Amino acid sequence: MRLVVLVSGSGTNLQAILDACEDPSFGCEVVAVGADRPAIAGLDRAERRGVPTFVVAVADHPDRASWDAALADAIGAHDPDLVVSAGFMKILGPAVLERFGGRVINTHPALLPSFPGAHGVRDAMAHGVKVTGCTCHYVDAGVDTGPIIAQRAVAVEDDDTEGSLHERIKVVEREMLVCVLRELGERHRSA
Ligand code: GAR
Repeated sequence: MRLVVLVSGSGTNLQAILDACEDPSFGCEVVAVGADRPAIAGLDRAERRGVPTFVVAVADHPDRASWDAALADAIGAHDPDLVVSAGFMKILGPAVLERFGGRVINTHPALLPSFPGAHGVRDAMAHGVKVTGCTCHYVDAGVDTGPIIAQRAVAVEDDDTEGSLHERIKVVEREMLVCVLRELGERHRSA
């Protein structure tokens, strides 16, 4: 299964995918990594593995619609079976979703439908939840509203900061994402 992975930052979820792909039985290959900004660790991780990268920045386009169209073209150039938004901090637009509809997944650091958006960990802590976690879901036109594929729970500790909680969530999030991709890869092969 050909994957294009989209990142905006450190790319530790991407790294987990790249590591899993080292095993041929995993059944997935990262054919490109895309970002909405240059000079991020996620792009370095891809380059170290010799995976092609591309950057499509909002600021380089006159409006959001042309950014969306350019992103769809950049992704499409690598002919993916699945697009994985792994810490990509932009809402994907209609051009991307129409072209890859039903073939885009996202990972989010909260138990959806609670705490969607860019600050899932902070919002869950502010609410005072005792259990939070992460969700992998298909992307639809809403913000973190698409059908849920998998979730993992993580307990909130009394002395947690947003950073410490997010780091614990990311440990189980990486395992969840690899597990989801293994399953989707198997389904893809037998389809
Ligand atoms: C992950 O926790 C991911 O769920 C989150 O950003 C982190 C990226 O970590 N994404 C969102 O909050 C999207 N709303 P990484 O760059 O180390 O993979």
